[in-house]
Amino acid sequence: MSGTLSGRLALVTGASAGIGRASVDALVGAGARVFATGRRKAELDALTRQHGSQTVRAMAGDLNDGGFASELADAARDADIMLSNAGILTYAPLADTTFEDTEAMFRTNVLASYRITLEMAKSMAARRRGHIIVMTSIAAREVYRLGVIYCATKHALSALTRGLRIEFQEHGVKVTEIAPGMVDTDIRANSPHPSVQQALKVRKFTALTPAEVAEAVVFAAQSEANCCPDLIELRPRGSA
Ligand SMILES: NC(=O)c1ccc[n+]([C@@H]2O[C@H](COP(=O)([O-])OP(=O)(O)OC[C@H]3O[C@@H](n4cnc5c(N)ncnc54)[C@H](OP(=O)(O)O)[C@@H]3O)[C@@H](O)[C@H]2O)c1
Repeated sequence: MSGTLSGRLALVTGASAGIGRASVDALVGAGARVFATGRRKAELDALTRQHGSQTVRAMAGDLNDGGFASELADAARDADIMLSNAGILTYAPLADTTFEDTEAMFRTNVLASYRITLEMAKSMAARRRGHIIVMTSIAAREVYRLGVIYCATKHALSALTRGLRIEFQEHGVKVTEIAPGMVDTDIRANSPHPSVQQALKVRKFTALTPAEVAEAVVFAAQSEANCCPDLIELRPRGSA
């Protein structure tokens, strides 16, 4: 490991909460400056206040909005590192999952994530240098009850991530996929279905913390120039 991210700029999507927010803290802790984005401006402003405006710059907006995604890609075009992390989840049995929820998960987790990531990969390729880190999930390789649509979106995102690596590595861009199991964040707050609540209640392991996942982000970002951690899977102990 080269040790420090001093002098590096990282774009972090989904920085207003959970894993993204913890990753901002960890990247700053390793010496990076961060361009933080998410829809909730107040949360992003709090990050800027916490770390200082020289260290964390924020730009609030919805990644599903193509106009905002273009503006963001332009404003953050010099980023050396991108953590593509924004995502949503609604767990429910398939028969009780609305098409609107299905569409929303595919739109945010696959299409919006891919669009901004591709734009950043193109900027990095033009400079022949950069590192894309994509937050998928253990759900990218498993399909489980109550989470089928989410699993499908993460399978698609993982395929796109591997495709980005295949096509962009010759242009000097590294691509890493981080695939955590359950992490203790608010992402499941949008899943009130009784079957989901019951499944969460009988779970026999402790979820990972966002800071534990953020350590993997920094590990990947600090890898030597000729070394690409392609896939990092993280599971809470006892969950496999
Ligand atoms: N928690 C887990 O168990 C777990 C496990 C494996 C992988 N993951 C993945 O890790 C990533 C982060 O999840 P988390 O658990 O940290 O969730 P979280 O606490 O709910 O945070 C999600 C982040 O995504 C942002 N976001 C969502 N939709 C957006 C949109 N349309 N435009 C811009 N930003 C948007 C949210 O910001 P705003 O609300 O401010 O827009 C928020 O900052 C997700 O991709 C998730 O699938 C989570």
